[in-house]
Amino acid sequence: MEKTTSTNDWLTLTGAGFLALPSASPKLGNSTQAVHGGRVENPYHSITEPLVSTATYTFENTQTINEYMRQKLWGEPLDRSEYGRYGNPTITAAEARLAALEGAQEAVLFASGMQAISTLLLSLLSAGDHLIITENLYRKTRQFCTATLPKYGITCSVVPMNDRQALTAAIRPNTRLLFSESPTNPHNRLLDIEQFVEVARQHHLLTVVDSTFATPFNLRPLEWGVDVVVHSATKYLAGHNDLLAGVVAGRHELIAGLREFQGVVGAISDAYIASLLIRGLKTLGLRIARHNENARQIAEYLAAHPAVERVWYPSLPSHPDYAIGLRQYKGFGGVVSFTVKGDAQRTARVLDALQIPLLAVSLGGCESLVSQPAVISYYELSRQERRALGIEDNLIRYSVGIEDADDLIADLEQALRQV
Ligand SMILES: Cc1ncc(COP(=O)(O)O)c(C=O)c1O
Repeated sequence: MEKTTSTNDWLTLTGAGFLALPSASPKLGNSTQAVHGGRVENPYHSITEPLVSTATYTFENTQTINEYMRQKLWGEPLDRSEYGRYGNPTITAAEARLAALEGAQEAVLFASGMQAISTLLLSLLSAGDHLIITENLYRKTRQFCTATLPKYGITCSVVPMNDRQALTAAIRPNTRLLFSESPTNPHNRLLDIEQFVEVARQHHLLTVVDSTFATPFNLRPLEWGVDVVVHSATKYLAGHNDLLAGVVAGRHELIAGLREFQGVVGAISDAYIASLLIRGLKTLGLRIARHNENARQIAEYLAAHPAVERVWYPSLPSHPDYAIGLRQYKGFGGVVSFTVKGDAQRTARVLDALQIPLLAVSLGGCESLVSQPAVISYYELSRQERRALGIEDNLIRYSVGIEDADDLIADLEQALRQV
């Protein structure tokens, strides 16, 4: 492979004007992109992207300012930054790598997954517009779409996952956008992405998919024709439970307006977070292979256990989206959700008896984490409301880390035996 700076074939200008690998190069595999994608040539020749912690940037003289403003006005690639809210070289480097991984023309980094989702939807939609979301979305995304957006005159319909008829019936003259998530949190429902895109295209609608659980190693939504992909980078992309971030990736024409809007509302990430994220991304391929394999083994073990009622993992033929998984997905990630036989108290005893996973919300890091959604993420809802969302009292969400599967299974065995 040529060095990044030695042939023009490999060079491109990123948003803040740094030399980088072409983000959507079809020649490179995902693991190569995770290590090198969008790699910047920096003034120090350091192998790591410099951590540029600054609020603003200096100009040599007024002529330099005039030249910069001219480039900006004409939408030309910029070779420098102006102010911290509009750009930062470390953030640009993270964005270039994320774009490379998703096969996107451009990516924008945010301070959290929810900030990415909310800023994106506010930038794409206007008062009077309607959007359709699928059921089983991450709870706060659903809350944002059904309770927050209506305050700004944007209405929302919720349809069952993969129900073509319901999706088509929900489309109105003012529908602009379809939003889904895959695999979903916490039941690992898989979006039939082919069908989703087909319906959207028939009706000239934009499509957005939250691919947090999949990561580009298990699914590349843009390759299936989705317009915009979003992630909570807090999870697998960063991978170490040490930061919060979000990302939106897609075509220049869609991302340009979002970037402009980001500068207006100030929904930005930070250079230190971006450098940690770049570091985490380098091992994404190795981690996902391990998460996929560990979770598959644990799901199979749990499915055969007499104390377990039901397991939600798409590699199991009992999962409702097993067939879609075989056709469209390369793996299913590290989250295994399951119900134990018994009530909320018995379920809590299983969790408390586990020795290796830590009792915490979130997912996608090296450490295994477990939680009982009914007593934490959905605590304030009535049991009836929780049931309507499929959140049973005896549901456990296990975010399987990268530990040894044998140890995690032995630990589950001792915990399930105790109750
Ligand atoms: C699928 C999914 N999307 C978005 C989010 C929100 O991400 P963040 O916590 O980084 O705001 C989460 C958080 O759990 C999630 O699971």
